[in-house]
Amino acid sequence: MAESFKVTPWEVSGLSGETYEKLIKKFGVKKIDGPLIQKILNTAGSLHPFISLNLFYAERDLGELLDDYRKGNKFYLYTGRGPSGKMHIGHLMPFIFTKWLQEAYGVDLVIQLTDDEKYLVKNLSRKEIDGYVEDNILDILSLGFDPKHTHILVDSKQSGLMYNYAVDVAKHITVSTIKAVFGVKDSDNIGKMFFPSMQIVPSFIIPALTGRKMRCLIPYAIDQDPYFRVARDVIPKLGYYKPSAIISKFLPSLQGDSGKMSSSVESSAIFLSDDDKTVRRKLMKYAFSGGRDTVEEQRKHGANPDIDFAFNAYMMFEADAKKVRQVYDDYKSGRMLSGEMKELAAAKISEKLADMRAMKERIKGNLAPYMFDPSKFSQ
Ligand code: TRP
Repeated sequence: MAESFKVTPWEVSGLSGETYEKLIKKFGVKKIDGPLIQKILNTAGSLHPFISLNLFYAERDLGELLDDYRKGNKFYLYTGRGPSGKMHIGHLMPFIFTKWLQEAYGVDLVIQLTDDEKYLVKNLSRKEIDGYVEDNILDILSLGFDPKHTHILVDSKQSGLMYNYAVDVAKHITVSTIKAVFGVKDSDNIGKMFFPSMQIVPSFIIPALTGRKMRCLIPYAIDQDPYFRVARDVIPKLGYYKPSAIISKFLPSLQGDSGKMSSSVESSAIFLSDDDKTVRRKLMKYAFSGGRDTVEEQRKHGANPDIDFAFNAYMMFEADAKKVRQVYDDYKSGRMLSGEMKELAAAKISEKLADMRAMKERIKGNLAPYMFDPSKFSQ
């Protein structure tokens, strides 16, 4: 039967509420359930709103990794970004969450920039992509990552470090797997077939360099699952643990269409470079609302915060989990109106973007301490 949605690393369309449930079955991931949430709370010491509000909703082998952690075995984190445009606030979501994990568990983090992927998949020149690499790294780091424990890998720049490992991975992946899992067609370039090996490498690079067994936890949005499904088949053959995963839905996009926010249309997203006025105008003018048509109805029935852009944007940037819960409850119950929700979001986003811009200025031209340095991990 034909499906009405498409979710692959290179194309996302036709999403709806039920899609996420269907993807759990289709991809073979597990829902994050009550006992696991308790385990996260016990080991992390607190619970991030992205978990309690079900934005991170699925996992692979997370319980096993946390059991090991409890026995004193540290894991490391790995996530990434494909630098194909300037960043909007939706792009920050996995990084905000990963930073929380990094601090809660006191672990190292590898961030990969897949500039090679974007060169192969998109119609962009190397020069354009190079510009995004630098700017995206600054945007990500302006969330305040600790340079001692944050290690950035840019595929095109650190290819010497990664290439042989990628070949080890590639040796264990067949053409038919790549065709089935990624939808690669005969008319596609052959780079698309090899590239997944590069995205798999960081999920074992630290144990590979140190020679010590160590688990890896990868936070990602569900469209990236194909990479890590293949990774879990291949990596044990190379002698490492299967990577664990914590998997998110997408944030609703500014205009509420059922895809990811897009970097290519100015009015489709709030960009990190938008000034206060623009942020407010975009929220007021475009933000998809989970509210009701009239004030009376809203007071009576309440809004649906889960699909409301302003609520989701606010939640992303509000560090205080209790406040997030309060706003969620107030909005859902009808105590709070959509206009108020938008004002609150505008203020929060502007405050956070101003902080980030200041941080970006401070670290510009000084990225060396953040770049992946194999000598820190050599045996
Ligand atoms: N392919 C991802 C993208 O296009 C980038 C990426 C690389 C990534 N490694 C990752 C995302 C690990 C999540 C986890 O955005």
